[in-house]
Amino acid sequence: MRVLGIETSCDETAAAVVERDSTGRGRILADVVLSQIAEHAAFGGVVPEIAARAHLEALDRVIAAALHESGLALSDMDCISATAGPGLIGGLIVGTMTGKALAYACGKPFLAINHLEAHALTPRLTEGLSFPYLLLLVSGGHTQIVLVRGVGRYERWGTTIDDALGEAFDKTAKLLGLPYPGGPAVERAAADGNPGRFVFPRPLKGESRLDFSFSGLKTAVRQAANELAPLTDADVADICASFQAAVADTLADRVARALNRFREQFAAKATPALVVAGGVAANTTLRARLDALCHASGFRLVAPPPRLCTDNAAMVGWAAAERFARGERDALDVAPRSRWPLDEAAAPLIGSGRRGAKA
Ligand code: KG4
Ligand code: ZN
Repeated sequence: MRVLGIETSCDETAAAVVERDSTGRGRILADVVLSQIAEHAAFGGVVPEIAARAHLEALDRVIAAALHESGLALSDMDCISATAGPGLIGGLIVGTMTGKALAYACGKPFLAINHLEAHALTPRLTEGLSFPYLLLLVSGGHTQIVLVRGVGRYERWGTTIDDALGEAFDKTAKLLGLPYPGGPAVERAAADGNPGRFVFPRPLKGESRLDFSFSGLKTAVRQAANELAPLTDADVADICASFQAAVADTLADRVARALNRFREQFAAKATPALVVAGGVAANTTLRARLDALCHASGFRLVAPPPRLCTDNAAMVGWAAAERFARGERDALDVAPRSRWPLDEAAAPLIGSGRRGAKA
């Protein structure tokens, strides 16, 4: 089975062709990602209207490049898929309309994919991981601990009650005058810093619920920066290192609890796995901390290659392949959703309302 995947939910315009064989093994035949970082850098963050227009401008070329790279034609696809949420609605409209139009024009089934599900199923594409497993998704838009029981069966165990972790990195960078995207800049600055100079809060640490909070940490960083202004390079490095240390402690505390809970529920699972995904998973300090934690708890830490941890369309095509293999298809009147929680049953913690839960 061959699937075209389209991803336009944030600031990456991406298209990919993936293959799934009858035993369920996956292979990426083409994977094209066009980043819009340059378009948004001057604004210190993603500007939705600019993102939507950039997707519109680039998407047909990106799809053509993916097909070319795979050596296949649209007529060779078994189905066409696009991310339909959650994300920035302008980009989602561009991606889903394009996907539906292609599906209609060549008479192929269409699948509307949840972006979070695509992240969640990626380790099945990269290494055929078996269910159930735990997922820690840490990106610019999401911070969640999710129990992945099966395709379409997700339980959200924890989420952020305010900022996403990547957002906290980006805001910290911005207030310290570091470039966008903030995560890599903060990590680079932290490498020369003293993580013990500032004792920033570890929000929710020690609480039994598995949720996250980062806005208090951000405020503490701002206060420290204001008190010291003007900042020297050494001050910036120390603040970044101390911020990262606080984040590592918080993550380790929440994740340790999640691993224990998983153990209690799935005592029979011989080698349980924790999957990390999302742009923040690229951070080596955080990665090392999670690695040590998993090692001590008898878990395997599974981190898809960085290219598949951040936003891409191979994961979208793969999620579609898993659903398609189960006989699922979507109607062409399916609408994109800016908010689309993986676990619809979980109580929304922020942004509940007419459009549904934000996280
Ligand atoms: O998954 P991603 O590429 O896009 C979405 O948000 O969906 O994640 C981007 C986020 C940004 O907030 C960026 O600052 C953060 O991931 N990030 C990092 C690092 N690299 C990227 N955060 C911390 N350390 C890094 N090395
Ligand atoms: Zn993502």
